Amino acid sequence: MAYGLLNGKRGIISGALNEQSIAWKVALKAKEEGASFVLTNAPIAMRMGEINRLAEQCSAEIIPADATSVEDLEKLFTQSQEVLGGKIDFVLHSIGMSPNIRKGRAYTDLNYEWFKQSLDVSAMSLHKMLQVAYKQDAIAEWGSVVALTYMAAQRTFPFYTDMAEAKAMLESITRSFGYHYGKFRKVRVNTVSQSPTVTTAGSGIGGFDKFYGFADKIAPLGNASADQCADYCLTLFSDFTRMVTMQNLFHDGGFVSTGVSQEVMESL
Ligand SMILES: NC(=O)c1ccc[n+]([C@@H]2O[C@H](COP(=O)([O-])OP(=O)(O)OC[C@H]3O[C@@H](n4cnc5c(N)ncnc54)[C@H](O)[C@@H]3O)[C@@H](O)[C@H]2O)c1
Repeated sequence: MAYGLLNGKRGIISGALNEQSIAWKVALKAKEEGASFVLTNAPIAMRMGEINRLAEQCSAEIIPADATSVEDLEKLFTQSQEVLGGKIDFVLHSIGMSPNIRKGRAYTDLNYEWFKQSLDVSAMSLHKMLQVAYKQDAIAEWGSVVALTYMAAQRTFPFYTDMAEAKAMLESITRSFGYHYGKFRKVRVNTVSQSPTVTTAGSGIGGFDKFYGFADKIAPLGNASADQCADYCLTLFSDFTRMVTMQNLFHDGGFVSTGVSQEVMESL
């Protein structure tokens, strides 16, 4: 059921790669809730072509942008305002990639060039987006920016390797830029820390299946799905959360606050 939560709002949604992507679900639900938006992803992801189907469904334009390129991001924000006819009300940063994880490098054997890429793609890209938007004054007053993160920023999960550092940096940028953008235009910036979710990025992590099951058994509500994550993101884009900023918000069924569950105790 739609509530018209985003009626009249203009947005930029990054990171929809395929139907499993969290950003894909956000786009479908944002459409249902009355938003108009632009879809963006790295040019290489465009070649896979699936995003065209989503764009048709949402009557959205696609503007390719490598989130590590300031030049691409400048075009993204300029063109989005032209296409949508005004300043941007919400931005979803749903971008993550670690060459070290992709190539199976252990945390004790990281390739440092790849480590830099992990940080650039997964964390510094949020700073780049925000700085470009700030300089162009592209986000409307009381706008909302949400980036997706994972709890490995606070607690160690050995298989998450250098993405743990990337997420810690992402969450720090959220606080630091949240201050400046809050002062400048009352724009809020938050991260949503999501449960393990079956997506291309999620499933690429070693031991994901077992860990998915473990997290599901620990969290009293079970793992949050991508659809539920999208619902939560929409509330953060809506006018009902105007005073929430610079926060890391756990969307994990209670995992982070649970030491151990009865199910896990019994399985030992
Ligand atoms: N899946 C999980 O278990 C989980 C849990 C917590 C947080 N997250 C986070 O959610 C976000 C979305 O991931 P997902 O799980 O939907 O997987 P996904 O693989 O569907 O999405 C990741 C996206 O990042 C994009 N991307 C990679 N490099 C890019 C670049 N240089 N420029 C622009 N885009 C680029 C990819 O094309 C892809 O669309 C990520 O930040 C991820 O870390 C995922």
